[in-house]
Amino acid sequence: SSAEKGGFRTYMDKEIHDQPQAVAETLLGRTDAAGRLQLDELRIEESVLRAVDKIVVVACGTAAYAGHVAKYAIEHWCRIPVEVELAHEFRYRDPVVNEKTLVVAITQSGETMDTLMAVRHAQEQGAKVLSIVNTHGSTIPRESDAVLYTHAGPEIAVASTKAFLAQITATYLLGLYLAQVRGNKFPDEIAEELADLRAMPNKIQTVLDRGDHVRVIARWMNSDSVLFLGRHVGYPVALEGALKLKELAYIHAEGFAAGELKHGPIALVEPGQPVFVIVPSPRGRDSLHSKVISNIQEIRARGARTLVIAEDGDEDVKPYADEVFWVPEAPTLLSPLLSVVPLQIFACELATARGLDVDQPRNLAKSVTVE
Ligand code: G6P
Repeated sequence: SSAEKGGFRTYMDKEIHDQPQAVAETLLGRTDAAGRLQLDELRIEESVLRAVDKIVVVACGTAAYAGHVAKYAIEHWCRIPVEVELAHEFRYRDPVVNEKTLVVAITQSGETMDTLMAVRHAQEQGAKVLSIVNTHGSTIPRESDAVLYTHAGPEIAVASTKAFLAQITATYLLGLYLAQVRGNKFPDEIAEELADLRAMPNKIQTVLDRGDHVRVIARWMNSDSVLFLGRHVGYPVALEGALKLKELAYIHAEGFAAGELKHGPIALVEPGQPVFVIVPSPRGRDSLHSKVISNIQEIRARGARTLVIAEDGDEDVKPYADEVFWVPEAPTLLSPLLSVVPLQIFACELATARGLDVDQPRNLAKSVTVE
């Protein structure tokens, strides 16, 4: 009913708009009075966490892209190597895992069979498994050594949106907690990161408030192929943007690492080809910003229609962008919580404009309980 959808057309629209709350709730109640992260629910000895020498994230679909974002943050904050692997690939290739490996399983439903099999395999090799799960009482948290729940609330639409933002948020908490336990960061540094994180829900709301611009572009999109480019944490965002479009609108879509463009994908660019580009913050480290701007120039010169996601005030993108979807300033590692939102709105609106059922796309299931 429309009441269940909170007045929105579809569950997907509602869940996209629930995202500031999904992130806020996932952050709530996870610090003590002194402002230190407190994840008691983990029930893993701090000594075990201090001994971890490798993290392997296992997940499927959108949850795997949350893991991909986590890799950037956790390696940067904790200096622990992080691998991210699709659960079904991990399980069948004889991966190197042992007592010092922390396997992090990310799953909205907690029931994905591929992910469950990866969890069991990891435990057989002696690894500890920590799961990041949205659904209480499901199978994967029951079998895990530790659980960090996301508080996105029930996600009804088959394709994941708010659970994704909550998963990313939970991995930030995990990364900062590991940094706290292992002494990689001073308490005031962690407090600063947490303050940045707590500012994100309002910024996500700002992106939602600007959604009409994306919707207008989506309604007029008549291409049957869309490309997505991103770099650093923008890369998994590009992959997720492409996945949303495949799932919801049945359009051929592909995400690429922007640096890979010249190694192949640029051959796909012909006049009129729509390409989304997620531009890193101009305040970020290294010269990634200017490299991605060069990528936009290169594809524009070949006739691409450039749909650019950029930070407020980034004047450099303007000369080469056909459209700019602005997002508020944020620390680079946290920026996926903002930059993915226009891509979700785009896929949802395009599919709706084509008369498709965005809540229940063809051939897909909310939780895949078979291998
Ligand atoms: C299915 C859904 C996807 C989801 C994936 C993983 O394929 O259609 O939206 O990302 O499963 O689900 P999980 O519940 O493990 O996060």
